[in-house]
Amino acid sequence: MVSFVIDGKNVQAEGGAMLLNVARQNGIVIPTLCAHDTVARSGACRLCVVEVTKGKRTRIVTSCLYPVDEGIVVSTKTERVMNVRSLVMQLLMARCPESQLLKDMAKEMGIEPQPSFRVETDKGKCILCRLCVKTCEDVVGVSAIGLSRRGKDKIVGPPFMEDSVTCVGCGACAYVCPTDHIVMESTDGRRKIWGRAFRMKACDTCGRYFAPVDQLKWISKKTGTPLSELSVCLSCK
Ligand code: SF4
Ligand code: FES
Repeated sequence: MVSFVIDGKNVQAEGGAMLLNVARQNGIVIPTLCAHDTVARSGACRLCVVEVTKGKRTRIVTSCLYPVDEGIVVSTKTERVMNVRSLVMQLLMARCPESQLLKDMAKEMGIEPQPSFRVETDKGKCILCRLCVKTCEDVVGVSAIGLSRRGKDKIVGPPFMEDSVTCVGCGACAYVCPTDHIVMESTDGRRKIWGRAFRMKACDTCGRYFAPVDQLKWISKKTGTPLSELSVCLSCK
């Protein structure tokens, strides 16, 4: 265990625990966009910055990636921290002017969108956090989507932005996306996502459509479970 100070409060935590988690456990709210419990942290959004003093050195760090250490002094709401968060937010809003989530978060943080931040490339609602990509890769194990193009033209989607052949239609990317950028529509036994339509399987017991057939085939192949044993939804199991 290590002892340190956060916003004037003495706290204890396991050495190496991530600062963001420890702050949350102690009721301290730090805004985040790209931290999700199911995938490894990437530090993509930079919204979770805080100020850390270690010895004689004070610096701004991303709290989701910073391991706590004995004797550090953490401040989560100094003027410097708020200025950096405000700048990050302005850049995100300029890049994703359609995102209501960003507008709401900015309002909560007391940040007004500044017209001086030019929109270079409208990304819709995508903040390029890669949560969807990592979920598809690490959790689902499919790797159907990724980042393509470079610099300001960077975009998330299937390779060459063509209809994905490997996607199984599970929708995990849409669930994890913090800004609702990924459009997934499920109607009449069909699910549409990433330019493809997937046939849904109806539960053998209750008749409710519960998963795309391709996803069930993928699970069957990956786990060795016969497809016939995957024909009932979780509620009816
Ligand atoms: S689509 Fe969503 S999850 Fe994927 S990179 Fe963009 S904002 Fe992040
Ligand atoms: S939550 Fe830490 S960088 Fe996004």
